Amino acid sequence: MSRYCLITGASSGLGRELAIQYADEGWQVIAVARSVNALNELHNQHNRIHAFPLDLTNTELFSAAVEQLAQQIPALDLAILNAGSCDYVDATNLPLDTFDRTMALNFQAQVAAVKLLLPLLQKSELGTLAVVSSLAHLFPFTKAQAYGASKAALSYFADSLRVDLTDSGVRVCLIEPGFVDTPLTQKNDFKMPFLLQVEDAAARIRKGVESQQQRIRFPKRLVWSLHLLNLLPYSLRCKVAAGMRQP
Ligand SMILES: NC(=O)c1ccc[n+]([C@@H]2O[C@H](COP(=O)([O-])OP(=O)(O)OC[C@H]3O[C@@H](n4cnc5c(N)ncnc54)[C@H](OP(=O)(O)O)[C@@H]3O)[C@@H](O)[C@H]2O)c1
Repeated sequence: MSRYCLITGASSGLGRELAIQYADEGWQVIAVARSVNALNELHNQHNRIHAFPLDLTNTELFSAAVEQLAQQIPALDLAILNAGSCDYVDATNLPLDTFDRTMALNFQAQVAAVKLLLPLLQKSELGTLAVVSSLAHLFPFTKAQAYGASKAALSYFADSLRVDLTDSGVRVCLIEPGFVDTPLTQKNDFKMPFLLQVEDAAARIRKGVESQQQRIRFPKRLVWSLHLLNLLPYSLRCKVAAGMRQP
């Protein structure tokens, strides 16, 4: 019997690699993103990947698309809410539109996705909702006020969601990666410690989801470094964070 997986942000980076790996494993993959061409290209390479072009921040269209999807598949076994964006900001002149955009995609669209996809996940014997956040929210990184805040909100949302979905038949998996080499990070002009290749990162996510981990954080070297920084006295932690600023 086919297993169905929906992956958002599947046109590039982590989502694209996850789509390929799940399709290679025999899953039917519903690949969501805005770039129709990139999704069609994926479908041409892997006939188990199905293009599902959609702007996730348009809740009306998203809702209609899920209704359509519900006519086509019996159940959703796995939903990986991976789409996200990262823009750095100038704290002396906060770009409000960047905050609006970032929260709309990284947080609001994820909430909408949970609401809309939950009934389909509940039709599966054990549906899994995997939410891709980030380790970024564990430390106050320079220029990351919009991105870090959106991921902090998302991680909290997923954690508390798990509490109330305990008896729903859907389990929640929170994914918090460190730096991964994707188009999102390729524009960074600073040194990214313990940068992982996208194939490696996607494989770690698949392994964690498969073994029903509640939270997948990697790489461990970065996780422990951030934990250690957070053990510092608060004023010293602030100094270390300020020391990471670029001129
Ligand atoms: N790379 C890292 O180091 C890293 C670390 C921690 C966490 N993460 C998280 O991992 C996730 C994937 O990141 P990535 O590095 O793979 O980034 P990426 O290569 O830039 O991919 C982002 C994906 O999101 C999709 N997307 C953006 N806006 C969308 C919208 N309005 N509607 C639908 N899809 C949309 C993009 O497709 P379209 O443009 O075609 O819509 C693209 O497929 C993000 O949530 C990111 O925060 C990444």
